[in-house]
Amino acid sequence: MLLSIVSVLFVLSLAAAYEVSFDNRRWVIDGQETFLIGGSFHYPRATPDEWPAIFSEMKANGLNLIQTYVFWDLHEPTEGEYNFPDDPKDPANLVLFLQEAQKVGLYVHLRVGPYACAEWSNGGIPVWMETHHKETIFRTDDDFWLQKIEDFWDKTFEVVSNAGLMASSGGPIVMAQIENEYGNIEYGYGSGGAAYVKKVADFATNHPISKEVPIIMCQQGEGVGTTPPENVINACNGYYCDNWIERHSASNPSHPHMFTENWPGWFQKWGEAVPHRPASDVAFSVARWFAKGGSFMNYYMAFGGTSFGRKVGGPNIITSYDYDVAINEYGYRAEPKFSLLTMLHEAIYSVQDVMFTMEPISSTNGTNCEIQSYYKEDKCVLFLSNIGVDGEDCEFYGEFKIPSWSTSIVVGTSNTHNAHDGQCSGMEEIYGTKTSLEEAEQPNMVAYGAAEDIVVGELAIKSTVAVPTSKDAASDTVIVNESPLEQLTLTDDSTDYVWYTFNYDSPADSTSSVLEFELATSGGVGLMVFVDGELKNTERAVSDSTSQLEDSNYATHLSISIPLKEGSNDISILSTSMGLKNYGPYLERNRVGIVSDILVDGKVCDSGIVHTVGMDGEGRAGVVKRVGGERSDKSLIWYTTTFPSPADIADRVVGIDLSAMGKGAAYLNGNHIGRFWDMKAGDEGCNICDEMEYNGQYEAARCRTGCGELSQTIYKLPSIWFNKEGENELLLFVEEAGEGDMEVKIVDVKMEPSAQ
Ligand SMILES: *[C@@H]1O[C@H](CO)[C@@H](O)[C@H](O)[C@H]1NC(C)=O
Repeated sequence: MLLSIVSVLFVLSLAAAYEVSFDNRRWVIDGQETFLIGGSFHYPRATPDEWPAIFSEMKANGLNLIQTYVFWDLHEPTEGEYNFPDDPKDPANLVLFLQEAQKVGLYVHLRVGPYACAEWSNGGIPVWMETHHKETIFRTDDDFWLQKIEDFWDKTFEVVSNAGLMASSGGPIVMAQIENEYGNIEYGYGSGGAAYVKKVADFATNHPISKEVPIIMCQQGEGVGTTPPENVINACNGYYCDNWIERHSASNPSHPHMFTENWPGWFQKWGEAVPHRPASDVAFSVARWFAKGGSFMNYYMAFGGTSFGRKVGGPNIITSYDYDVAINEYGYRAEPKFSLLTMLHEAIYSVQDVMFTMEPISSTNGTNCEIQSYYKEDKCVLFLSNIGVDGEDCEFYGEFKIPSWSTSIVVGTSNTHNAHDGQCSGMEEIYGTKTSLEEAEQPNMVAYGAAEDIVVGELAIKSTVAVPTSKDAASDTVIVNESPLEQLTLTDDSTDYVWYTFNYDSPADSTSSVLEFELATSGGVGLMVFVDGELKNTERAVSDSTSQLEDSNYATHLSISIPLKEGSNDISILSTSMGLKNYGPYLERNRVGIVSDILVDGKVCDSGIVHTVGMDGEGRAGVVKRVGGERSDKSLIWYTTTFPSPADIADRVVGIDLSAMGKGAAYLNGNHIGRFWDMKAGDEGCNICDEMEYNGQYEAARCRTGCGELSQTIYKLPSIWFNKEGENELLLFVEEAGEGDMEVKIVDVKMEPSAQ
């Protein structure tokens, strides 16, 4: 049965309307039967001038679809004021992004959520949703939440429909998603969770858009815990999803099997080494998926890119979002991943017509050797798999030796029209997830060479920020309260920084007085403690995402040692947010900063806490109103330098080495490059995984590299941010200085053969 989603609307468009339909085995788009092999690419993680080349590479990689979230916080930065810009240089220009995808012939899966996860701050939910609507519980039956997400859904589809981007007007959008991985966190909401899922599924499937494109709701269970609503298509996310197909088939026999997020790598946190997922393992996961009946598979990500500015999620995720995927952060092909997967996609497209109409016939030959076969007329396609992890080959039909943890695709001729196993002859291997490594490009890696002709002058100190004092209480630019106030309530997330300052009268000199409070950790842990304007202690613990479910405070108790002198001491605590938690239930509980009384040597400080919001110089090109004296610790300094632009910058791929600069934030000509931090990965736990030898279930800890090294040293500089003529200004805010001399270098980013 072919379920058809039909709609031919009266749309003024030159492109012809087309239909999107599917059954349990295939997609029919504009009359063409096809499997869909896609990849995720988030528009704000590259600059618009880079989008066309990345789409072309996706196409060259053999993908026919792109998947993106629509980031609510970009499109409704202020409550009730939608922002869908048409400026061709604005990374929030969703319409242009989708038009560029269409130009190279890629379909689009638009994930409107609007909750995105995506290692994006607050999961893409605007922070005003929690700071201005404190009673609202996200992702529940809450009236205000439902109203806001429905409005956002309406608005987004109004924008893309008006731009002619829906299939019904010849555009590239062939499917939509509501919610996102809710099944993973549904347990946290009790029975209300299922009621909410049903409500949003009903909303989307009653929306006019559902007459045009299918509605997907990924990771909504299927035999494990939660039950997906029947009116939306459930989909699977993970490193492997082939074992999910059977459950999905049983509960939804007419639905296609969709693997919405196959993770070809993983993201990285500060203090972690670099994750790598072997290409042969990614290929194995994909081959197994199609072997067992999948018809849609999407890489999350195809291109990861960069979390520029303050948009990275948390806690403690680095600025690069390379994700170890086939098209790296700089737009280069990462090998052998790119070529091994391109060959796989070509092999799958070449046999898909044999696979469209039947369920696979599965058989085994011993414990680890499995065959899935498909027949059509005189053609047969066999997926020969070795799911063993012991290094032993599987032998099939006396002629195919399949290495462990790999799948080969074999084609042949069938002399019988009764499809059954064993009737395939003249068999030939067209692809193997390990055997094709021989034909793949040689492994390569990113290399950074000094950009000889882009010489950044010496860094000059523009200004040193004065540490606030308790006397600031008299100023009308601060907020004084008896006890500390939560950071997001003060900032609306418009800045990373809040100062908590108070005066403490110490009965005696002491070298190790104890400062105690609860610190909310949804934005990571970044604290600096000053006494009388001098840095005395820092807390840079990388706290992991413990659950906000059990602990609605989501805070950690800190006990910090500071020296005090007898009598009056001004104590200033600088709290820094590092990107808000983006995963888990109850994101409206995201909190940052000090969330308890502050105690010194066991006594509550209630003489009034002076809250100073933001960092002096921030957002005003580093103009500091109150310049502090030089501190020996070199903290809280704005550095600047200028340099002439190279003429050929548009043709270059460059980054900046900030490894000597400690921790802070960097700007090129006013564009926020991202947060930087000289945080090192631990010395242990790295392991180079050989593509051929790799066996067994992947997890991000398995094949990391870069132990003992900085989690990130080079930060991408999009060429469009340079002034092509005249001077360029680099501005760096250093919260805490690095070791050694402060210097930066611009580097050319190239690829070179890797050692493997
Ligand atoms: C099953 O395994 C045996 C021994 O490894 C091999 O000789 C035979 O060809 C295999 N059978 C099939 C159908 O592949």
